[in-house]
This record gives sequence, structure tokens and C-alpha cells, in this order.
Amino acid sequence: MSIEQLARDNVRALTPYQSARRLGGKGDVWLNANEYPTAVPFELSQQTLNRYPECQPKAVIENYAAYAGVKPEQVLVSRGADEGIELLVRAFCEPGRDAVLFCPPTYGMYSVSAETIGVECRTVPTKADWQLDLPAIADSLANVKVVYVCSPNNPTGQIINPQDFRTLLEMTRDKALVVADEAYIEFCPQATLAGWLAEYPHLVILRTLSKAFALAGCAAALRWRMKR
Ligand SMILES: Cc1ncc(COP(=O)(O)O)c(C=O)c1O
Repeated sequence: MSIEQLARDNVRALTPYQSARRLGGKGDVWLNANEYPTAVPFELSQQTLNRYPECQPKAVIENYAAYAGVKPEQVLVSRGADEGIELLVRAFCEPGRDAVLFCPPTYGMYSVSAETIGVECRTVPTKADWQLDLPAIADSLANVKVVYVCSPNNPTGQIINPQDFRTLLEMTRDKALVVADEAYIEFCPQATLAGWLAEYPHLVILRTLSKAFALAGCAAALRWRMKR
């Protein structure tokens, strides 16, 4: 039996995630990865690489909370937003029973994470104006534990109507988490849902330091190092 055959069926059936880099192309500015276009100088202030990093670093949490206008206890640090996407599936979805829902066209990692773990992906395509099809979502929520909504959306750039977010949050109350993926919120900071966290305990907001903060390589290096 080959090693490939030992892998779980759902892992063998996976379509590999196509990162912006893998899709190819030439040049120095990678708009489809939304990386910061220039290298920003960073320096290590101490020789701490012999130690495992603190998993919830206080200084990062406090500074990010101040930046985002939330309380430090509302912030959880992960190795990139991608790890946050996967942790939510692992923590809230029972493989073979629960589902995640998202609205294509949208970010590819929601399906990769769910499929790797063996959790059903339910999709409700956006309407012609790239906004949420709320009646169709309402009809598709059975067994859904996590709803991912990317705003501004990758790849359309669409900001989801705040009123539609409210309707979605009301229809999912006590049933499912709503995850607002705000990886691109620095393009439109006023559209953040951060101020709604107190009102909706089932709202999760994903942010990243990979884009506007020019740290894509740092998150990737941490992920690589800690997975060894
Ligand atoms: C919408 C969206 N969410 C999350 C991520 C992942 O971000 P990170 O680099 O923090 O894992 C990306 C990366 O391209 C993205 O486009």
C-alpha cells in the first residue's frame, strides 16, 4: 500500500489551495496576494529564537486591541488568519455531522480547512451585486456551525451591507458563529464590525498582520516553524 493510500479519504480528495504565488505571473507587486509592496526593515531586539514563542503574547494583544478599538480580552492571537479559520472549524464543527457555510466567489481557505477536517462545506453564491443572498442562507443553515463572510471580500472587493450582516447575525443567534473575515479592512476601516462584538456573542472577527502591516513572511515563518 502506498503512503498516499494511507491518507484519509477526504484529504486525498482535496483540491490543493492555489496561493497567489502558485498561480504564477511575473513582477514585483503581487496585488492578488495583497502583500505589502516594499520590504519594511525589522530588527530582532533580543536573542529569543532559542525559546518557543509565547502563544498569546501580551504586548501583541495589548497593542492590537488598542489599534482595533477592542478590549485585550477580546483578542486571540493565531499564526496568521488562516490558522484562525481552521481553529474555528476544529473547535466548533463535528466532522461528518456539522457544516460551514460561505458565499462564493470568496477566499479559498474556508473550504480547504473544512474539507481537510472532514466537515461539509455548504455554499450560497452571492447575488449579481456580490451581496449576500439572505433568504438562500436562511434556507441552508441546518447543521451549520460557522458562517464565513469576507468583507471587504476577496476577490470581489465588495463590502457587505451592514444591515445584511445584522440580519445574518439575528438568524444565526444561538445556532452558529458568524465569522467576519476583515483581512482587507485597512482598505475601508470604517466598515469594521469590531464595535458590534459586545452585542453579538457569536460574532468573530478575523484580522491579519500579513497585508497592511507588511508581515506576510513573519506569519508564514512562524507557521512553518511551529508545525515542525
Ligand atoms: C480574505 C483572507 N483571509 C485570510 C487570509 C490569510 O491571512 P494570513 O496571512 O494572516 O494567514 C487571506 C490571505 O490572503 C485572505 O485573503
